[in-house]
Amino acid sequence: MTKARILVARAVFPEIIALLEQHFEVEHNQADEPWPKERLAGKLAGKVGAFTTGGERIDADVLAVAPGLKICANMAVGYNNFDLAAMTQRGVLATNTPDVLTESTADFGFALLMATARRLTESEHYLRAGKWQRWSYDMFSGSEVHGSTLGILGMGRIGQGIARRGAHGFGMNVIYHNRSRLAPDLEAQCKARYVGKEELLRAADHLVLVLPYSPASHHAIGAPELALMKPAANLINVARGGVVDDAALAAALRDKRIAAAGLDVFEGEPKVHPDLLTVPNVVLTPHIASATVPTRKAMANLAADNLIGFLVHGKPVTPLNPEVLK
Ligand code: DGY
Repeated sequence: MTKARILVARAVFPEIIALLEQHFEVEHNQADEPWPKERLAGKLAGKVGAFTTGGERIDADVLAVAPGLKICANMAVGYNNFDLAAMTQRGVLATNTPDVLTESTADFGFALLMATARRLTESEHYLRAGKWQRWSYDMFSGSEVHGSTLGILGMGRIGQGIARRGAHGFGMNVIYHNRSRLAPDLEAQCKARYVGKEELLRAADHLVLVLPYSPASHHAIGAPELALMKPAANLINVARGGVVDDAALAAALRDKRIAAAGLDVFEGEPKVHPDLLTVPNVVLTPHIASATVPTRKAMANLAADNLIGFLVHGKPVTPLNPEVLK
């Protein structure tokens, strides 16, 4: 019996390729060559399934070249690389990898908050550059973490994980804003209080962004929002580039309108706004919030299980547009 043909668009753990090869004829990209959109579309032609990451844009143009495509399984919880409406219209199932990365991503969000508050990378660069001659009372003084006010914008599973860490581990006063308010038992678990967006911006000592990217959240934090924040506040973005206006943020950091920022995601990444590279009061990491070996393996396995579950057994694990199954 001939096997269904799938594409694995980026390099992934070899055991995942081996698992997929038990069920499918797999074209992979273990060399991790960058494929521009037209090349990706050409590779998808003739395939029924695709294993993608957040970097592959799947939209109407790509789908038009690949009429046989039935499923795109994203190895990411975020899926703003998918035009979900176009996929649904063409009957293409979309899946993502929720839950398996919640705790590691929340760990990282908190690590970035602490690194930013306590000026970890800035002080390390100073030391490595041989500039440390003697101790002084005001050297690299940062902001307090314990007992401060933690503001969270976007209170999904990862936001709740960060809230629990702040409230229970560091005695922080946690406030949040979200499209919808959490159920009372979840608010109690997170020790988090719901506030309006403006109060969140004004009150937070550390503002952590964990909301998904969509046209509605584009530049949710821009110059007007930064102007409402305390001059001593820190901004942490582990959500998506585009949620923050990076040019406005770089200007605010340069002019000390806020104290510092910690950024794991960027508008137009892997490009980084050049002004962010010139200001010292920002910690920059290359989109690694979920990057632990067990978590990345769990994400890859869940994406593979979605392909096998759907194409072999007719039952995906974590569908985003289950209406196409009807
Ligand atoms: C996710 O899972 O959405 C992470 O940002 C990795 O892309």
